Amino acid sequence: MTTNLERYSNTAIILHWLMAVLLITLFGLGWYMVDLPKGSDERSWFFALHKSIGLTMALLVFLRLVWRFTHPPPELPETILQFKRRLSGLTHWLLYMAMIIQPLSGYISSSFSGYKTKIWGVPLPHWGWKSPELNELFTDIHVASSVALLCLVIVHLSGVAVHIYEGDKQILRRMVPGK
Ligand code: HEM
Ligand code: HEM
Repeated sequence: MTTNLERYSNTAIILHWLMAVLLITLFGLGWYMVDLPKGSDERSWFFALHKSIGLTMALLVFLRLVWRFTHPPPELPETILQFKRRLSGLTHWLLYMAMIIQPLSGYISSSFSGYKTKIWGVPLPHWGWKSPELNELFTDIHVASSVALLCLVIVHLSGVAVHIYEGDKQILRRMVPGK
């Protein structure tokens, strides 16, 4: 296994940007759909779309982690200070954790709603039962973890912005396609 000094592999880059777009879409859908009138067709449609994209995200996180463990990231330039290496490493792993907890809590809360959870119209095995208490508990976890995820993305983007501000575009280049 060779370690690229320059940039992430194309697969890692594609997964990073595809998942960033899906994540922003899921936040938009999530915030929009919760205010729609209960019992309306529109609400059900947006909930179903949010769940399908969210479950697709769960599959992509799994694939991304398999790729990550089998393909080490490019080494950071030696000029990067030790505390920055630690902070970025910690943020990345917390982002992965949040990207697991987020769809998982959504899926578990849905499993206690009394309805079958579907992905793109295909019903998943229905192991849960109707429990308003458990549904509420996992919904609370889903909402809390969405706030944590949002904070982590802000920390992540601030890290990238600091490097650009300091005149170092090498970090950003590691994650953008091209030569
Ligand atoms: C990474 C994936 C996901 C993200 C980023 C995400 C994000 C969000 C956000 C931001 C909200 C609005 C929370 C609020 O009220 O402020 C929400 C609500 C919701 N999400 Fe997700 N979600 C994801 C995956 C899922 C999955 C996989 C499911 C179910 C299979 C799901 C089911 C729900 C449900 C049912 C609500 C409404 C909760 C309520 O009634 O208040 N989500 N989600
Ligand atoms: C919006 C959701 C985003 C999430 C969840 C996310 C998540 C991640 C994660 C987990 C990594 C670590 C990759 C690894 O080593 O396994 C990473 C790396 C990176 N991300 Fe993001 N990212 C997001 C958005 C962005 C945006 C908008 C930018 C650009 C402005 C960006 C720029 C980068 C860069 C440059 C790296 C490589 C850092 C390095 O070389 O150490 N990310 N991202």
